[in-house]
Amino acid sequence: MKMSVIGCGYLGAVHAAAMASLGHEVVGIDVDPAKIEALAAGQAPFFEPGLPELLTENHDTGQLRFSTDVADAKGFAVHFIGVGTPQRRDGGGADLTYVDAAVRDLLPHLSPGDLVVGKSTVPVGTAERLAELIEPTGAELAWNPEFLREGFAVKDTIEPDRLVYGVRSQRAVDILDEVYAQAMSLDTPRIVTDYATAELVKTAANAFLATKISFINAMAEIAEVTGADVTQLADAIGHDVRIGRKFLNAGVGFGGGCLPKDIRAFSARAEELGRGESVAFLKEVDAINLRRRQRVIDLVKETLGGSAYLKRVAVLGLAFKPDSDDIRDSPALDVAVQLHGLGADVIAWDPEAVPNAGKAHPQLEFADNLEDVLRGAEAVVLATEWKHFRELDPVATKEAVATPIIVDGRNVLDPVAWREAGWTYRGLGRP
Ligand code: UDX
Repeated sequence: MKMSVIGCGYLGAVHAAAMASLGHEVVGIDVDPAKIEALAAGQAPFFEPGLPELLTENHDTGQLRFSTDVADAKGFAVHFIGVGTPQRRDGGGADLTYVDAAVRDLLPHLSPGDLVVGKSTVPVGTAERLAELIEPTGAELAWNPEFLREGFAVKDTIEPDRLVYGVRSQRAVDILDEVYAQAMSLDTPRIVTDYATAELVKTAANAFLATKISFINAMAEIAEVTGADVTQLADAIGHDVRIGRKFLNAGVGFGGGCLPKDIRAFSARAEELGRGESVAFLKEVDAINLRRRQRVIDLVKETLGGSAYLKRVAVLGLAFKPDSDDIRDSPALDVAVQLHGLGADVIAWDPEAVPNAGKAHPQLEFADNLEDVLRGAEAVVLATEWKHFRELDPVATKEAVATPIIVDGRNVLDPVAWREAGWTYRGLGRP
């Protein structure tokens, strides 16, 4: 099929490359010339495992092109909208400027019979409003949320665990089935809904995941005042298949470009709909999550004798999660910035996110590698659970630092081994 993908960020660039690898003819469109130039040269503008390979492969076959001109979408049968919906500056709601602009710019290039497919995460009711703009052109709108996780985006796009089509006609279902023919051949569950349900599926999924993480972090808070161990608690309750062990890792909390802004946007939308109380708990989910960052900072201060002022603190990790260079709403970066604000002599390192962190926070000091970040540290904070840090050897690491103090913000180290090696070890919700 011939398809355009409007918006080439984390979602759109991966979607475009993945669709081309499935044999479709794809044009990716974005207003950012630097991004388009990189993608057109077969380079990924951000770190995502597997994406560079797909870009090079499709670049060579000519299945995938990139452009800054939305007019290049003309003549294509399917148009995906994959632009961002960041948090508004003046509140918690979603900023729909980019979605609205993408649709408005696409309108003059639509032909009767085209299918516009929304993938961006939007407040419920958006698709209905956009359909009124699109339908007079003779094109149709479908809402097809994506659930990709950064770090696994290529796999999640090619082999999604479910497909959700919010549609108004059987024809739209048939077109989407052809788009996703490969996933359909693998018996991927496919749920056909109306617009509102499709929009809400995405919002509800992210709200649930955020709630699950904050639930276990709330248990960590209780564990901290009772001497219990939240990691054992998570293992024990996780054996109940109704609960499940996934997304029950207590630590410095969730961040990234989705979970934090999506729960805030959901609260804002529910309030607009007069149902704020239905999701009032999401404010608590957000508050618990943010408290965990403070807890890490408090542990650093406590282990340093009450103050981090002028102390050399090594922060391991800056990305919001491993296998990503994304620093949007990253708890790790936030902890580094706040410690710096307290007068600590902070040095940070991340295998991929240093360039992005340096652009956003040039006041921080960054190391070039793991060895440099550890050298002379009076306290170490493990803030993102990259493999590099999970596999640190407590004995060798002790040689590098000035004082063997470690705050494990992700609960990924073995407290026994680290204490045996002579470290002061503190986790979150662990005795
Ligand atoms: C998320 C959703 O998983 C995905 O389906 C949606 O499409 C976009 O948002 P992503 O932001 O890539 O994906 O990250 P995810 O792997 O879900 O992790 C989110 C955050 O939660 C990270 O900061 C991670 O460190 C944190 N997390 C995750 C925990 O703190 N504990 C856990 O047990 C799991």
